[in-house]
Amino acid sequence: MKKIIMLGAPGAGKGTQAKQIAERYHIPHISTGDIFRANLKNGTELGKKAKEYMDQGLLVPDDLTCDIVMDRIRQEDCKDGFVLDGFPRTIPQAEALTEALDKINQKMDVAIDVAVPDESIVERMSGRRACLTCGATYHIVSIPTKAEGICDKCGNAVVLRDDDKPETVQKRLSVYHEQTQPLIDYYKKQNILQTVDGTQPMEEVFKAVTEILEQ
Ligand code: AP5
Repeated sequence: MKKIIMLGAPGAGKGTQAKQIAERYHIPHISTGDIFRANLKNGTELGKKAKEYMDQGLLVPDDLTCDIVMDRIRQEDCKDGFVLDGFPRTIPQAEALTEALDKINQKMDVAIDVAVPDESIVERMSGRRACLTCGATYHIVSIPTKAEGICDKCGNAVVLRDDDKPETVQKRLSVYHEQTQPLIDYYKKQNILQTVDGTQPMEEVFKAVTEILEQ
């Protein structure tokens, strides 16, 4: 199973798992959040527009988001599969994805929901540190950087993301429950939904994920 969607609340661990999936199965990791942050860092119009929404904990409008993902999954390196992290996030995004794949006689193989209760999310996000240069993520308690504040992978600074401040996290969680959680039913109806317990240690979560992918 190589066309994979990672579902879950902000901070559930989608990115952590998606990176490992991409590495193990040699498929691209497509994170819409990373794409927006890279655009912001490069000062593009898309990045500036996305920031207005991201900083408020809101979703970037569907039209901006869908075009980027559809262009990406049509690229040559996605022909043997890909892992989507943070997309789709609304029913219209999921429908756009289904339609785009229908046109080329393809479909997603599996949607994995990384389930974590809201109480654990706020703690995780306040401890997360992200490298805005290479996209690596850490946690001050569970995965600290070797040298404080410095990314192990590229040597640049790691920071608390603007949208990881507690008040923004609360907003992101309420947006998640309202707009993204309905995707669980959407993919259940398509018979491709699987759930893993995201409160377990990362290695255990990854073990559960690989068991699903290798069924
Ligand atoms: P995005 O970057 O996708 O943020 P998100 O979905 O809110 O997810 P996160 O990256 O915050 O968390 P994650 O689930 O990947 O967790 P992680 O692995 O880092 O999007 C940001 C913004 O961009 C959105 O709010 C929106 O504005 C916009 N956007 C993006 N996509 C969009 C779309 N499709 N449509 C519209 N707008 C869009 O883990 C979190 C922390 O927990 C880390 O510190 C990690 O080390 C730690 N951790 C991970 N797993 C475990 C574990 N098992 N145990 C303990 N700690 C763990």
